[in-house]
Order: sequence, then structure tokens, then C-alpha cells
Amino acid sequence: MGSSVRCFTSLMLLLSIFLPVSESSQFCKAGIEYGDSECEFPSSSSSKILIKGGTVVNAHHQEIADVYVEDGIIVAVKPNIKVGDDVIVLDATGKFVMPGGIDPHTHLAFDFMGTQTVDDFFGGQSAALAGGTTMHIDFVIPVNGSLSAGYEAYTKKAKKSCMDYGFHMAITKWDEIVSRDMEIMVKEKGINSFKFFLAYKGDLMIKDELLLEGFKKCKSLGALAMVHAENGDAVFEGQKRMIELGITGPEGHALSRPAVLEGEATARAIRLAGFMDTPLYVVHVMSIDAMEEIAEARKKGQRVIGEPVVSGLVLDDSELWNPDFKTAAKFVMSPPIRAAGHGEALQAALSTGVLQLVGTDHCGFSSAQKALGIDDFRKIPNGVNGIEERMHLVWDTMVESGQISVTDYVRLTSTECARIFNIYPRKGAILAGSDADIIILNPNSSFEISASSHHSRSDTNVFEGRRGKGKVEVTIARGRVVWENDELKVAPGSGKYIDMPPFGYLFNGIDKEDAKYLSSLQAPVKRSI
Ligand code: URP
Ligand code: ZN
Ligand code: ZN
Repeated sequence: MGSSVRCFTSLMLLLSIFLPVSESSQFCKAGIEYGDSECEFPSSSSSKILIKGGTVVNAHHQEIADVYVEDGIIVAVKPNIKVGDDVIVLDATGKFVMPGGIDPHTHLAFDFMGTQTVDDFFGGQSAALAGGTTMHIDFVIPVNGSLSAGYEAYTKKAKKSCMDYGFHMAITKWDEIVSRDMEIMVKEKGINSFKFFLAYKGDLMIKDELLLEGFKKCKSLGALAMVHAENGDAVFEGQKRMIELGITGPEGHALSRPAVLEGEATARAIRLAGFMDTPLYVVHVMSIDAMEEIAEARKKGQRVIGEPVVSGLVLDDSELWNPDFKTAAKFVMSPPIRAAGHGEALQAALSTGVLQLVGTDHCGFSSAQKALGIDDFRKIPNGVNGIEERMHLVWDTMVESGQISVTDYVRLTSTECARIFNIYPRKGAILAGSDADIIILNPNSSFEISASSHHSRSDTNVFEGRRGKGKVEVTIARGRVVWENDELKVAPGSGKYIDMPPFGYLFNGIDKEDAKYLSSLQAPVKRSI
């Protein structure tokens, strides 16, 4: 078989993985070898884009190549692709062409602490697209503990989506119905991860007994267990202490929940997940204490993923002491943004593989909403922005400084998330057959962050005034140019829900480990009576 024929055959194989039969057979009928420099692409259908001459970056490889996109799918990646007149051509010479960011941790239209986050699915996703993120995974919060009611509610909220999204689901109580609903979520609703809150006592917090039940169920379903790791009982005690000391302002938030409480809960969750031998994903790792627990567990071979968020990587807690309440309150999130030094340590952990991917925990509240806690820091809605800023800040902080390579950048902001949640290579890659979620980043251009120009509906931004190098000039979502020349072209309803199948790579080999464990027990001992 000639190499060109082989190339076509493998392309068709890839396409058949991603496309329904009717769409892939359209390519067969065209009879064209995609990527062959002397042929042209068919000119009949819509939304055709050629990205020319950029450096195409995947998690393990980069090369100068063209990328041809048709009907929302990447069709070819190779040099010198020729196309017809009906194709939009984007010149990416001197720029990086990378998979759109995937944010593993967001809260859009989230009802929390007596209010709802300012950014709904359309607003938050518009902001994301302007910052180069093309997919996010949001946390469904059950309604009165009911997973199915929570799922219905979030499905409604997400109807106005303008980019692709998936769901994690929180578990806030335990009974037979919850256990059965977890099964339905995984087998019928495309959810493959469940979050357990070890903090927010009296609200979302669960006890260890539930955590163990949840871990067991997750393992049986091939779903990833996630934890918000802070000791909620101790936080409650810390909050009382601050109030007794007359500390009612935003600094009380940080003082009431020190890093040791994050370290304790992280260690506990890791040990319990190890006891159940199920993989664990620790969300918003904010401290050295938590990161070191993850490092220790991974060194011993445990399947633990650590997700720092962009606020924890680039900010410190100093603004919580700002005498202006509005300024200080905007930095209140949980676990808290830590003292200087933690962020740098988390960056180093990312660059050495101790931590695996970067999220945002985007959970925006306006200053009016933050003012709910003007007299009592316990009532300040917890959460900060980041969905629009993550791609720029990680680039500027880590690539521009030389801490990570461009391929690492793609892995940390996109590919690893797709792998963990089992949607790679449909997402997180610039490969023939992948969804056309693509950004063009100009390393010589610069960005500046301000609440006056961001796309979130919040009137504040925790990264206010930050400038840096590397700007996302173009965002393509599902094969449509949605961000170009600092302008958004988005339509509500154009985003799609992405099913995430269970038993991702973190589950590989667990059956063998379990078999080894069982054979090591030498029990039950057969005894004669
Ligand atoms: O402060 C935070 N992190 N708000 C969002 C809820 C959560 O804990 O993820
Ligand atoms: Zn959390
Ligand atoms: Zn969160």
C-alpha cells in the first residue's frame, strides 16, 4: 500500500471514531486524500477553515503545519494544504496553534451562600472563549440531595451554552436513591466524576462515613472521586475563634481555615481512597501542605491527581488585609488564597509533574453580593474569577518564565483534563478527527486584565491590572471562529453537552491490584471445628 493511501485509510479510521456514519461517508464520496498538497478540499459545505503556517502544538509534539477544519472537525494537520475560495484562511505564521483550553472546575449559575454566581452558562462561557477556553466541566449541585433533580436543573441552566461543556456531580447526602442515581448518572447521563465536600459544615459538607460509601460506589462505576479537602469541623471552630476575637472582616476568612486544615483533609481523603483502592482527584489545591500530601502519595504509587487553580498559582493572601472591604472581599474563596510562597511552590509542583492540570474554580460574585458579608466574613460568598484569565496567566507565568515548555502548557491546560475525564483525543488535541476547538496564541502580543474590559458580568476581577505576554488572538469552537480582533461572535444554544464515559485511564490495572490484594490476605482461614 502506498504511503498516501495508508495515510487516507488511517484518517478515515479516525474520522469513523468521531463522526456519525453519514458524515464520515461524505468524506469517502469526495474521494480526496486530505492533507495531500496537490488536491483541493470539497467546497460545498459550510464552516471550512484553514489555519496556515503556525506552530501546531500538542501535548507531546510540536511542528509547523497547516490545520484544515470542516464542519466542526479537524480534518488534516500537515504542511501546505491547498483549499478552495470558500474556505476562511487564517494566517498563523509566528504564532502557536493549540487545543482550546479545557477548564476542569467551574461554577456557572451556582446557587451558593444565599445568592447565585454572576456568570450564567452563556456569560461565563463567553468570557471563557475570549480567553481561549473552549470547554469546561461544571459542578452539578443536587437539589435537596437529589442527583436527578440537580441534573435536570443544570440541564436547563446550560441550555444557553455557547461552548461545549460537561458535568461533574456533587454528592451531599447518602441513601439508596443517591446510590442508584449515581449509577444512572454514569450509565445514562455521561457523568464520570463525583465531588465530595469535606468543608462547608451545615451545607455541602459530608462525613467520612459517606465519603467511604461514595468512594466504594465510584470505584464500582469507574467514576472518579473528587474532594474539596478542608476539615470542615475545624474550619467551623476556627471561624468561632475569629468572631470571638472580634475579627469579622475578610482576613478572618484566611485566619479561620489555615493550610494545616487543608493538609489534614487532603491526607485523610488520600488515605481513605487508598484504603478503597480507587483513584482520587483533589480539586483546588491551594497550599504546600496539600501538595506535599499528594506528592507523597504519588511517590508511593497511589492514583492521585492534584488540580491547582490559577488564583492559587499567581495570587497571595495579602489583599485580604486591605482596609477597603470591597477590595478584600473579592479575594475570599475556599480553601483560601495562601500567603506568598505557596503559589510558587504549586507552580514548581506543576512543572515537575507532582500536580497534573490547572483549573479555575471560576465562581464569580459581584461586589454587591460579596457585601452580604460586610459585618461577618462567614457570609461573604466564597469564590473568585478565572475562566477568562487562566490561559493567559498560565502562559505568562509559566511559559514566559521558562518553567514549562509550550507542549507542557497544552498538557496542563487542555490535554490532561481530556485524558483524565476520558474524552481524549476528541478534545485536548489538534489531530485529524478531533473536535475543532483551537486557539491561535501570539507570543509577541500582550494582554492586560481589567474588570472594565473583561467579559464576566462581575464588576471586579481578582487579577485587576495584571499584564503579560502571550495573547489568544483567535478562538475556534467546534469549527467556528468565535473570538477574533477582540470581538466575540457567540450564539446561545451552540454549545454541546459532552458525554464523558467511565473507566478512564486512572482505572487501568485496578482489577489486577485488587486481585493481588485479595490473594495477599491468606483468608478466610479454613478451620476444622
Ligand atoms: O470558594 C470557592 N471555592 N467557591 C466555589 C465552591 C467550591 O468550594 O468549589
Ligand atoms: Zn470546593
Ligand atoms: Zn469549586
